[in-house]
Amino acid sequence: MDRVIIFDTTLRDGEQAAGGSLNVQEKLEIARQLERLGVDVIEAGFPVTSPGDFEAVRLIAQEIRQPSICVLTHANLKAVDDSWEAVKSASNPRIHIVLSSSDIHLFYQLRKSREQILQMSCDTVKHARKYTDNIEFSAMDASRTEPAFIHQLLKAVIDVGASTVNIPDTVGYAMPRQFGELIEGVFKNVPNIDRAVVSVHCHNDLGLAVANSLEAIRQGARQVEATVNGIGERAGNAALEEIVMAIKTRSDFFGLTTNVETKQIYRTSRLVSDLTGFPVQPNKAIVGGNAFRHSSGLHVDGMIKKSSTYEIMDPRSVGIPSSSLVLGKTSGRHAFKERLSELGYSLNEEDLNKAFASFKELADKKKDITDRDIESLVAEEQRTISEEYHLDRVQVTSGDQGLPMAAVRLIGPEGKTIIEGASLGTGPVDAVYKAINLCVKVPNTLTEFSVKSVTEGIDAIGEVLIRIESDGITYTGRGADTDIIVSSAKAYINALNRLLSAKKNKLG
Ligand code: KIV
Ligand code: ZN
Repeated sequence: MDRVIIFDTTLRDGEQAAGGSLNVQEKLEIARQLERLGVDVIEAGFPVTSPGDFEAVRLIAQEIRQPSICVLTHANLKAVDDSWEAVKSASNPRIHIVLSSSDIHLFYQLRKSREQILQMSCDTVKHARKYTDNIEFSAMDASRTEPAFIHQLLKAVIDVGASTVNIPDTVGYAMPRQFGELIEGVFKNVPNIDRAVVSVHCHNDLGLAVANSLEAIRQGARQVEATVNGIGERAGNAALEEIVMAIKTRSDFFGLTTNVETKQIYRTSRLVSDLTGFPVQPNKAIVGGNAFRHSSGLHVDGMIKKSSTYEIMDPRSVGIPSSSLVLGKTSGRHAFKERLSELGYSLNEEDLNKAFASFKELADKKKDITDRDIESLVAEEQRTISEEYHLDRVQVTSGDQGLPMAAVRLIGPEGKTIIEGASLGTGPVDAVYKAINLCVKVPNTLTEFSVKSVTEGIDAIGEVLIRIESDGITYTGRGADTDIIVSSAKAYINALNRLLSAKKNKLG
C-alpha cells in the first residue's frame, strides 16, 4: 500500500490535554472541518468516560459520512457494548480497544499477568467483532514492552479479528532508530501481520513524536495517529500537519501519499486553536505565524530571486492566507464573498450578511483589511452562534485619575431579556468583568488573560484569550475587536456561554 492512513485523534487524545475541553457543538464543528481536511479516521471520543463524550460521538457518527468514525474503549465487554451504542450510526464505525502491555503498567497499575492481558485482549476483540470488522487494538506503552510479548499479543488479537494493530509510544520514550526497529521487528516476527494494518501513535515528551512516526512509516507502518497542532496529553501527540507535509514534501524519500487536502491545513489549525484556546507558537512548523516569514537580508534576497532558494513548501499549499491582498472601505459584497471563498469559507446567506456587516464596520475603523482580519472576523461571528448571553453594549471610562467604571448591556437567553449592569473596578477590564458578573451571576475565577494583535499596525484587531474556572473545570473564551476592552468583554461572555452550555449538557 503506498498510501498512509491518517487517523486523527484531536477530539480524543488532543482533548485530553490539560485545559483543553471542548463542548459538544465545538467537537462537531472540528469534526466537520476534519472531514473537509480529508482525514481517513476520526477518533471522536472515549464515550464511556463521560456523557458529554458519548453525545459528541453520537452526533459526529450521525452526521460525518466520509471518514471512518472511531471510539476508544477499555478492554472490557460492557465498555465495548456501551461504546458501540455511541458510534453505531456511523457510515464506517470503528471500535478501538486499548490495553497496556508493558511490565511496568502490568505490575504497578493493572496488577495483571501477561497471560491475563492476552486473555482480556482476545476476549474483547472477539466480543467487538459481533458489531463490526473494523477493529483496532492498541498495546499501550508498547515502546517499553518486551518486543517478544508485543509479537505474541499482536498475533493473538489479529487471529481473533483485529484489523488494525496500533503500537503506541505512550510516554514519548522511544528514539527514532529504536522505534523503527520495533516496527521492523513486528513485520518480521508476527506471522499473520499481513492481515492487519500496522499503526503508530507517538507522544512528544522528548520532542520526537513526528520523527518516530515518520521512521515507523519508513519501516512499513501504514496508519499514523496524530492531532492537529500536535495537542494532547502532556507535551502532546505527533502533529498531523507536520507528518502530512513531510510525506508530501519528501515524496522523493517516502514514495507515499495521503488523502489529506493540504489546503485545508491552516484553517483546521486555526479552528482547533480557536476552540481549544491553545495558541500556536510562532515558530511551529507548517502553521506557526513565522513558518513562512523571512527576515534575514540574505534570505529575503534569495526569496525575491527564486522562492525555492529558502522555501521548501509553498505556503498556499497549506492554505496560509496571503497578507498582501487587502480589502478596504470601498470593497463590495461580491469582492468580500470571493475572498471568503478563496479562504475556504462558504457561508450561508444569513451568515454572509452578518459577516459583511461586520466587515464594513471594521473597514470604518481600519484602512486595510487583510485575510487574517477576515478570518478573525468570521471566527468572531461564529462564536456568537447559539450564545445564551450576547454582549450588546459596553461603555468604559478610565484613566489615571479616579476609579475606572464600566456599564454593560447584555441580551439574555433566547433574545428575550435585556440586562444591564455597572461597576467600578481596579482597571477597565476588571470593571467590565464585574459589571458582567452582576448580569450573569455565575461564580467563577479568572485564571488566564492574554491579548495579541492579529496583524501589525496601531489599528489592528486585538484578540483576547481568557480562561475561567468553575467547579474545577476550565473554560476558554475568545473575543476580537479593534478595541481591546470590547475584545475582553466578548471573550468573557464567550467563556461564560461555554460554561453555561457545559452545565446545561450535564443537567440534560
Ligand atoms: O498514548 C496512548 O497509548 C494512547 C492509546 C489509547 C492509543 O492514547
Ligand atoms: Zn496517546
